[in-house]
Amino acid sequence: MPRQRVAILISGRGSNMDALIAATKQPDYPAEIALVLSNVPTAAGIEHARQMGIATAVVDHTTFGKDREAFERAVQAELEAHRIDIVCLAGFLRLLTPFLVRQWDGRMLNIHPALLPAFKGLDTHARALEAGAKQHGATVHFVVPEMDAGPILAQAAVPVLPDDTEATLAARVLAAEHQLYPQALRLLAAGRVTVRDGQCLVDGIPVSLPAGT
Ligand code: GAR
Repeated sequence: MPRQRVAILISGRGSNMDALIAATKQPDYPAEIALVLSNVPTAAGIEHARQMGIATAVVDHTTFGKDREAFERAVQAELEAHRIDIVCLAGFLRLLTPFLVRQWDGRMLNIHPALLPAFKGLDTHARALEAGAKQHGATVHFVVPEMDAGPILAQAAVPVLPDDTEATLAARVLAAEHQLYPQALRLLAAGRVTVRDGQCLVDGIPVSLPAGT
């Protein structure tokens, strides 16, 4: 099976992008990073990707005003031009419309810094602390039109410690994200994932998620 051509969509720092790029350096990894696309021209991650010799594209959403679909048509054109098979959202902070989501049904992943369905949306670490959660974590899921929903492919749980601040908890979750996303992409790119009734199966077996979620 040829290596799957992956686009990573970012808006900022790009540390998950770095983790995915590093994973694809393994000789047996079933995917390669064929494009890094940012909606923010100054995103640190896009400069880093350029330095690593990876093809990059910037589609600045601000130039499309309120026309979200026009922005997405420009993104889709880049994805097609680079013959992309799989899209990984990695800190891509734009809500997508059904237009783009539909083009990538079953082929677009997102990573979210919480154990979904808990703490959808922003400020997940502060909200987990506020709620007194005992565990927190990260989720890789297929993208569907509804935000932070979609079949869950993989989750990693981390403990919430008594003296945690938002920053210490975020760092613990981020380290887990960097392990989780490459593992999840490996499964999808290897063709081992199917979705049945909204649930992900790997090699035909429902994925097991951390207890208590
Ligand atoms: C990551 O923690 C990712 O889970 C989160 O943004 C961060 C991006 O960091 N994504 C979301 O909150 C999406 N709702 P990175 O740019 O260093 O990968």
